[in-house]
Amino acid sequence: MSFSLLRQSLTRPISSSSRGSFGLLRFLSVKASAITFANTGIPKDVVKLVSYELNGPGPDEILVKTLASPINPADINQLEGVYPSMPAFTTELTPEQPSAIGGNEGLFEIVEVGSNIKNFKAGDWAIPRLPNFGTWRSHALVTPGDLTPINRDGITHTQAATISVNPCTAHQMLTQFVDLKKGDWFIQNGGNSGVGRAAIQLGRIWGLNSISVVRSRDNLDELIAELKDLGATQVITEEQLNSKAFKPTIKEWTQGKPIKLGFNCVGGKSATGVARQLGHGGKLVTYGGMSKQPVILPTSLFIFKDVSAHGYWLSAWTKKDPEGKGKAVEEMLNHIRSGQFKDVPVSPNVWSNASSDEAKLEVFKQALDNATKGFAGKKQVLEFTD
Ligand SMILES: NC(=O)c1ccc[n+]([C@@H]2O[C@H](COP(=O)([O-])OP(=O)(O)OC[C@H]3O[C@@H](n4cnc5c(N)ncnc54)[C@H](OP(=O)(O)O)[C@@H]3O)[C@@H](O)[C@H]2O)c1
Repeated sequence: MSFSLLRQSLTRPISSSSRGSFGLLRFLSVKASAITFANTGIPKDVVKLVSYELNGPGPDEILVKTLASPINPADINQLEGVYPSMPAFTTELTPEQPSAIGGNEGLFEIVEVGSNIKNFKAGDWAIPRLPNFGTWRSHALVTPGDLTPINRDGITHTQAATISVNPCTAHQMLTQFVDLKKGDWFIQNGGNSGVGRAAIQLGRIWGLNSISVVRSRDNLDELIAELKDLGATQVITEEQLNSKAFKPTIKEWTQGKPIKLGFNCVGGKSATGVARQLGHGGKLVTYGGMSKQPVILPTSLFIFKDVSAHGYWLSAWTKKDPEGKGKAVEEMLNHIRSGQFKDVPVSPNVWSNASSDEAKLEVFKQALDNATKGFAGKKQVLEFTD
C-alpha cells in the first residue's frame, strides 16, 4: 500500500457531507488496532500496539477486516532488521516517530466497498496482492489493487491466511529450476517447515520422490510418521544426512537415480549435506537460513559434479508476476478443496477486537515468543474476532 493511501486512510475525518455522498453504502468509523514497530531489534522489545479510528471507505476504497494472519520467519526477520525488504515507515499511526505495521500474510473479509468499486463486495475474501502489506492489524482501508480475491468455498480462515507464502514457495521452487518428471527425486532440509510440508505434498501429487531432512528430537518417530503420511518418500535426520555410512542407504532408495534438486532453508552443515547428495548437474536452491550459518559448498561439487547453487525469493517473484502468484494460490487452494493438501499445523492466538490494548499486545507477544522458538512444531496464527 502506498504511503499516500495510508495517509488518506487514517486521517480523513468523517463529515456529514462525506457521509451523504455514498448513497446506500455505509461510511463507517471503525476502532482499529495494529502491531507496529518503529525500531528494529529484539522482536518482542520493538513491537507496540496502536489503536486508531479508521473512517471509510471513500468512493475508490475498500474497508477490510482481518480474519487471520500467521507469524512467519520473514516477518520476524523484518522486526530484527535483517530482511532486505521492509514495509513503509510513516508517522500516520505514531506521530512521534515513523513506524510500520508488521506481518506479510493474512486473510481479509471485505466489510464495505466505496461507490466506485465493482469487483469486490461485502463478505468477499481477499489476501494481500504484494508483500509488506502489514497484516497484523484488525482493519485496513485499501484499493482493489492491494488485494487478490480468494474463492472462500471449502476453505478455512487459516488455510487461506497461510496459502500465499509457504505453499507458493514450494510450488515455485519445484517448477522453476528443474524440469522434474514423475519418479524424479528431490531432497530438502527443514522438512517439517511450512515450505517443507508443502513441497512433500506437491511432490506426492506430482509423482515425485522426496527425501526430507529434519532435526532429531524426542518425538522423532511421530514426526517421521506425520511427514510420511503427507507423502514424504523418506525422512532422515541431519545426523544421517551428514554420515558417510548412511550414503549407501540413500543410493539404495534412489536406485542410483540422480537427485536433481535440493532445497535448503537451514544453511551450515545441513546445506553442505543436501548439496553432497545431489547428482551430476543437480541444483541446490537456498531459500532460507534458519541456522544463521553460511552456505559452504565443497569445491569438488562444482568441478566434478557440475552442481550449481541458486537462491529463491518469493517476494521478488510476487512483485514481478502478481497474476502468476494469484494462479498458484488458486491452484494450491484447489488441492486443499480436493482433499489432497493439508495445511500446516497451527497454534491459534485469538486477537479479540473487543479486548483491551494490553490484552491484544499480550496475545501477540506470546505468539511471537512461540514463533521464535526452535522445535515449535506449529505455525503461530493470529485469529481476529469481533
Ligand atoms: N525465500 C523465500 O521466498 C521464502 C519463502 C517462504 C519461507 N522462506 C524461509 O523458509 C524457511 C522456513 O519457513 P517456514 O515458514 O516454512 O518455517 P516454519 O514452518 O516456521 O518452520 C521453521 C523450520 O525451521 C527449522 N529451524 C528452526 N530453527 C532452526 C535451526 N536453528 N536450525 C535448523 N533448522 C531450524 C524448524 O525445524 P525444527 O522443528 O527442528 O525447529 C522448521 O523446520 C524460513 O527461513 C523462511 O524465511 C523463504
